[in-house]
Amino acid sequence: MTFRIAPSILSADFARLGEEVRAVAQAGADLIHFDVMDNHYVPNLTVGPLVCAAVKPHVEIPLDVHLMVRPVDRLVADFAKAGANIISFHPEASEHVDRTLALIKENGCKAGLVLNPATPLSYLDHTLEKLDLVLLMSVNPGFGGQQFIASVLPKIEQARRRIEASGKPIWLEVDGGIKTDNIASVARAGADTFVAGSAIFGAKDYRKTIAEMRAQLATVV
Ligand code: DX5
Ligand code: ZN
Repeated sequence: MTFRIAPSILSADFARLGEEVRAVAQAGADLIHFDVMDNHYVPNLTVGPLVCAAVKPHVEIPLDVHLMVRPVDRLVADFAKAGANIISFHPEASEHVDRTLALIKENGCKAGLVLNPATPLSYLDHTLEKLDLVLLMSVNPGFGGQQFIASVLPKIEQARRRIEASGKPIWLEVDGGIKTDNIASVARAGADTFVAGSAIFGAKDYRKTIAEMRAQLATVV
């Protein structure tokens, strides 16, 4: 199993964003998780394609753009042009999920669906084969620093089984409340990609924190 760690910029110092993404990339991050909030789909407002384009030249690792916006489609091409490598969206926020997935692919990006804690896995019924990534929220979207919702663990197990049954190399990412002390249990449930905002950007030493996470992941067989 390949494990990936994706620091979320939501907990970075936005006044020094270029420096912050370079620091986590040098500290061993696999992806930059870029949280986009619109004060409509979620009650918070963050950054758009202009900031994504500004961050892009600072890192070589992929930009994992998590759209918490409604509507979705209008922003897809903008983020693709801004350097996004992966674009994920919440199916409740799109009128036509299949069309949005196609749009992301047409724009040359990998596509992901994001399921909130109370959003059922049945959204994968007619979409899984078209996905590069399933992103399961382990907090309600909108804010960093929330507590991990443990009832998501069996859902991660079920999602892993569905991915295995598909036979496709679809990533299973989990987002929200992931720390060094619970990352191994999330991996054991079947996740391979871990978003961590406050746990990494809230720490003094990014390299040490990412190394501790990897040490925890190494205990998972
Ligand atoms: C929440 C965001 C998360 C958030 C995670 O809506 O999608 O990516 O930044 O932050 P932590 O790791 O602090 O829970
Ligand atoms: Zn996120």
